[in-house]
Parts: sequence; C-alpha cells; structure tokens
Amino acid sequence: MVWLFKLQGELLTMQNLADLFSAPIPENASRPTDMQQQEYLCNGVLHAWDGACQEIFSPICTPESLVRIRLGCTPLLGETETDALLSAAQKAYDNGAGSWPTMPVESRIRHIEDFTQGFLETREEIIRLLMWEIGKSRADSEREFDRTVQYIRDTIESLKELDRASSRFSITEGVMGQIRRAPMGVVLCMGPFNYPLNETFTTLIPALAMGNVVIVKPPKMGILLFRPLLDIFRRCFPPGVVGFVYGEGAVVASRLMASGGIDVLAFIGTSRVADILKRQHPRPHRLRAVLGLDAKNPAILLPDTDIPQAVSECITGSLSFNGQRCTALKLLFVHKDIAEDFMTRMAEAAHAMSCGMPWHENVRITPLPEKDKPARLHDMISDALGKGATLLNPEGGESAGTLMRPALLGNVGPGMQLYGEEQFGPVVPICTYDDLETPMQYVRTSNYGQQVSIFGQDPHALARLIDPLVNQVCRVNINSQCQRGPDTFPFTGRKDSAEGTLSVSDALRVFSIRTLVAAQKTAQNKEILTRILRDRASGFLSTDFIF
Ligand code: G3H
Repeated sequence: MVWLFKLQGELLTMQNLADLFSAPIPENASRPTDMQQQEYLCNGVLHAWDGACQEIFSPICTPESLVRIRLGCTPLLGETETDALLSAAQKAYDNGAGSWPTMPVESRIRHIEDFTQGFLETREEIIRLLMWEIGKSRADSEREFDRTVQYIRDTIESLKELDRASSRFSITEGVMGQIRRAPMGVVLCMGPFNYPLNETFTTLIPALAMGNVVIVKPPKMGILLFRPLLDIFRRCFPPGVVGFVYGEGAVVASRLMASGGIDVLAFIGTSRVADILKRQHPRPHRLRAVLGLDAKNPAILLPDTDIPQAVSECITGSLSFNGQRCTALKLLFVHKDIAEDFMTRMAEAAHAMSCGMPWHENVRITPLPEKDKPARLHDMISDALGKGATLLNPEGGESAGTLMRPALLGNVGPGMQLYGEEQFGPVVPICTYDDLETPMQYVRTSNYGQQVSIFGQDPHALARLIDPLVNQVCRVNINSQCQRGPDTFPFTGRKDSAEGTLSVSDALRVFSIRTLVAAQKTAQNKEILTRILRDRASGFLSTDFIF
C-alpha cells in the first residue's frame, strides 16, 4: 500500500511501513537458526545449561501480524553459577600471581592475536546476528565488526608501545626504579545494546591486554552474537581468564558486585543502573569504575551557519542507527534567522531517508529493538506537541510494529520531555533561539556533559563558544556531528555522562595501575638488579624490548 502527502507543495508518495516487513530476505541475511543457547563459558569449559532461559526476540516483525520474531534463548543463570564464574576468575587471577597477570606481554599478545584469527572467521555470522538482534543495517553492522577488529589490532600496537616505554629504569635522587602498569584484578564488563560487540570489546580487550581477568555480561539485546565467540575464548585463553555470565542483571550482576570480588566495573549503559551497581559493592573505594553513560548532545547553529552542510551533519548526527547512539545529536538549537530554512531542509532530508529492514540496500531507518520503543517515543512527541511544539515532517512518527519514521519537531522548549530527556530514537527536537544564552544555559544546567556540536563560519564567534564549552563537555565538534571516533581520540564525558576515559591508549591505562620497583643506588643493589635483568629472573623487572 502507498500513501500520499504534501511537503512544500510537492505531492509525495511513501511506501506503507508495514509492507516493508514482507520484502524478500536475501540469502546472506537469512534468519539465524539453531539459536537455543544452552551453554555458557566458565573456567575454560563450555558448561551445558538446562535451567531457565531468557527468550530472545528480534526487532524484525512477522509481516502478517507485526509481532516480533522469536530468535532463540539464552541461559538465565542463578547465584550458584555466578559464584562459580567469580571463583574461576579469582582463581585465574590468584591475587595477581596467576599465569595470565604474570605472563610476559608478548605472550599475552599472542593469545589475543590467536583470538583475533578465530574472531575474523565469525564475521558473517556476527553481522547477520547484529542485523537480526538489534536491527542494525548491514553497512553499519559491517562497520561495527571491522572497527572492532581494528580496535583489537590498535590495542596490541599500543600495548607494545606502552611496554617499550616501560622497559627502562629511571634514576633520580639516588633511587633506581622501574615503573610499569600492572593489572587491577577481576573486571566485570557490561556493554550496551546499540554497540553490543564494539563497546563490549573496547573494554574487554584492553582489560585482558593489561593482565586482568574478565567476566562479561552481554547486553539483553545483542546477546546471541556472543555465542559463536564462546568457544574461541575458551580455546585462546587460560581457564577463568574470560567467563560469560548470562541472566537477569538484578540476579547475576548484583551478586557479583555485592560479593566485593569485582575490582573494576566496566559498564556502558544508563547512569541509573551504574549507580545501583556501584552502590552494591561493599567497599566502594576498592572499585574502579569505567563508565559510558547517558548523553543528550546538543548542536548550536549560529546565524552564519552553512545550512546545507549543517543539515547533512545534523541528519546523520541525529538519525544514524535511528538515533540510538550515545553520541547522537539529541537537541538542535537553531538561530531564529536561519531556523525556517534549516527546518525545511531537515524535513526534506528526513523524508528522503529510506526505511526498511537492515538488509535493504541504502536503508537508513530500521526496526527498533527496545521493548515498546515506538510507543514511548510517541508519548514524548505527544507531550511536546501538547506543549506547543510542531511536527515538521507530516509523516514523522508514523509507525508499524517496531519501525518508525523519524519525527522532526520544531518549537521545542523547556518543560517538554524532549528538551531534557534522552530520547535514544528517531526523534529530532529543534529549539529556535534568539539569544546564545539559551543554548549555553542549557549546556550549563544539563545533567549530561559528553559532547556538543557548533556550526558557524566566523572563527571568532566559534572561538567565543569553544572556551566555555570545553569546560562543560569533553568534546566540542566544529561544523561536524558528535561522534566517538577516531578510536585513538579520548572518549569521555562529565556529570552523568561518563567516568574514566576510553581510547585505544587510555583504555590500557584505566584497566591498570602504575606500580614500581625501586632501590637505593648502592653497589649492592646495582649488582642485584643487574643479576635479575641478566638472568631474566623477573617478568616485571626487565629491559626486554618488544618490536
Ligand atoms: O553509543 C555510543 C557509541 O560509543 C558512539 O560511537 O559515535 O562512533 O557512533 P559512535
């Protein structure tokens, strides 16, 4: 079925959203089968599980009744299995004396390289699962996989560089010392549904690289895609170094945190859940937290903005992967002199975005994996419309099952949910301002502090914004959308947006602590250190150089 409407006087046709679910599925995207996961990885063994299971549904719906297709199930482990996973990790770490934390860096790298080989072989399977589990387009799923491989390779290079820089002694004030970075212990690693593979690996790999042992709790959506990796982890790492816990967060994650046995919490998700988990740790001062949390990155468009260029950045910035990125632009402040032109072009660009299934060529808008997400977005839209906002694209917000056309709203302002809350979906709120104090006040009083985009052409006007903004957020993007990459750049946030900094090199630092061996520079100590080095008697005290 096709429906018609007018935008700027032009008669437009649009395909019925519901019909998109019935389009043929190419063979390389066919529905994954045999997804009844009845195993989990603990202590180097794939344990069979015949207990309770979590049903996993796809955001892809049946064409007839628009209900989510069941993909399979994953184990719902209990406290006993969780305790066993923790014991296995603690045994592998052995208070820092285990084979993994004491292993020479070069050998640890070989394990990670072996894993990467196996990982590469799962590429097609994981891309298919990304499409089916979280509705990510094929192009974006491929990017997520390939970016992850690159991240692992860059981490290895960065680790070598770190090791080289530490492979020397410092002699100061009569004290000889060798300073290195050492692991922290047991890491609980929890990634998000929107980048289930990449963001899990951007903490898992550096944590392992630095000699920590890791328990991974995959996200609730984007969970089955870890299954093909379990056996590769089992083969490539010593028992207990990597374990996978499956189940309700309130059971398994809470159990782990409350045990006091977790040394680092690496969590990407909401600040609400991060706070709950952190509070469960009996000795919070012993817990290091590496958190990627909520964000509502604004864009500020100055009167001299190059409008076509800004539209292009704001469309991708706010609607890539349906706006389900922590870095997405979630509120646009547009100067009143350019607002009409900007909003007209944004509405046209949003209209041109093709909706469909993840495997459709050039698809931009795909089904949403979060439960009842279209309904929740509709509520936010209704709230805004009821308080004076206007819908800029007539088709905006139309939905069928899990698929929803992007909605652009003008005249958004304080008091509306869309002004203060993170929508994490295909809704673009636009606020027209006269006085720059409006967006600046927004940034200052916001609970979020990740990034901001500023658009304009006058270098001095931009400079006047940069200086106050860099002390409010952690990245100011000029004439560009907000984003995490390149992955060598620091990625962090202030307020409720993050704790700790991630990047290829920073991640190695957050999962380690500086520790040193020092001695007075006496003849006896010089002789002792020389003998240790010459006999290669210590892994830590060593001047070996990795090429
Ligand atoms: O969801 C948060 C991601 O880290 C964003 O990464 O900016 O590369 O899409 P991205």
